[in-house]
Amino acid sequence: MSMQNLLKPYTKNIELKNIELKNIELKNRVAMAPMTRSRATNKEKAATDELQGLYYEQRASAGLLITEGSQVSKKAVGYINTPGIYSDEQVEGWKKVTKRVHDKGGKIFIQLWHVGRISHPDFHNGELPLAPSAINPNEKSYTEEGFKDTVTPKAMTLSEIKETIQDFKNAAKNAVKAGFDGVEIHSSNGYLFHQFFTATSNTRTDEYGGSIENRARFFFEVLDEMKQVIPQEKIGVRFNPSLNGLFGITMDEETIPTFEYIIKKLNDYNLAYVHLSEPFTDVSNIPFAVTEIAKHFRPLYNGTLMINSGFNKESGNKVIEDGFADLVAYGKPFISNPDLVERFRDNVELAEWDDSTFYVPGEKGYTDYPKATN
Ligand SMILES: Cc1cc2nc3c(=O)[nH]c(=O)nc-3n(C[C@H](O)[C@H](O)[C@H](O)COP(=O)(O)O)c2cc1C
Repeated sequence: MSMQNLLKPYTKNIELKNIELKNIELKNRVAMAPMTRSRATNKEKAATDELQGLYYEQRASAGLLITEGSQVSKKAVGYINTPGIYSDEQVEGWKKVTKRVHDKGGKIFIQLWHVGRISHPDFHNGELPLAPSAINPNEKSYTEEGFKDTVTPKAMTLSEIKETIQDFKNAAKNAVKAGFDGVEIHSSNGYLFHQFFTATSNTRTDEYGGSIENRARFFFEVLDEMKQVIPQEKIGVRFNPSLNGLFGITMDEETIPTFEYIIKKLNDYNLAYVHLSEPFTDVSNIPFAVTEIAKHFRPLYNGTLMINSGFNKESGNKVIEDGFADLVAYGKPFISNPDLVERFRDNVELAEWDDSTFYVPGEKGYTDYPKATN
């Protein structure tokens, strides 16, 4: 019997401007999707050896681990107990995590996060969260005092945009110091970059709004600055093109053309991968949404394409077989199956996840899911 697609090693070389460049090399095609777990309960908002170190080590047989979203600055935060990657203490914490993963032969990228308007003044000493435009997403923000309504954010000034670009650059520098194999820009799921991309959340009239090119500008400026401190082949990016009605995002007829423009333009780079999510909700009745993301975007991108959302072993093997993706990222299955790769290999049934412990402090529902394989 031949080896299933998900378990095959993956290597990629990219040809850019007629030069063949070495790109990514992974021991299998199973990635762990980035997942916020809200266990950074210490004052420094730092990962620790005992909690995050053990959690990621337990899952190190994945071809690639992508950490939970980690804020690039104090202003980037929007949830309680999420870890950061802007202070020395945070770098020290993450060093312990990367060491444990590397000792097990794993690879790990950190997801760099700015929530933009999906936040609350409670996180910012009463000041307004930042966003492309002063438009309330009308969402809930989970604060120390429980869920609160989001507010109308502050439209970022040009100098705030510049500062934020530097925050991402600094976070990438810190990620290298902490020993990460790479970074993933969280340009997905309704957070700051997605707010810039989307016409309903970005009504700016300067060079960061209006046209598709302008709405994508902030993202490319971040990417161009970041690649000065970390090689491009260690940068991944994430998009959720058909996100609609969640995290304050409303699609319009320009949404898909915006993502097509961005993804095509990424062919000029030598990135580790482009990570896409299939729609989080049924979008079949929205005329301008794409219902099959991998199938739609694969022909537009020459590099490594990672696909996510709702995959199991069979559909993961199939999406690779069909040629629509190179890598498959699993989220919830990795929460309850630390040995997901081995379970795929040995045909072992998957354990169910308990969503009541997704975001609670401590080891319960985090590091206490047993392995069923060796
Ligand atoms: C508990 C939880 C936390 C998540 N946190 C993040 C996050 O920090 N960053 C991100 O890009 N996506 C996040 N997601 C989305 C997942 O990466 C993934 O897209 C989603 O779970 C669908 O994949 P799945 O069906 O394999 O679980 C989160 C999902 C869950 C369940």
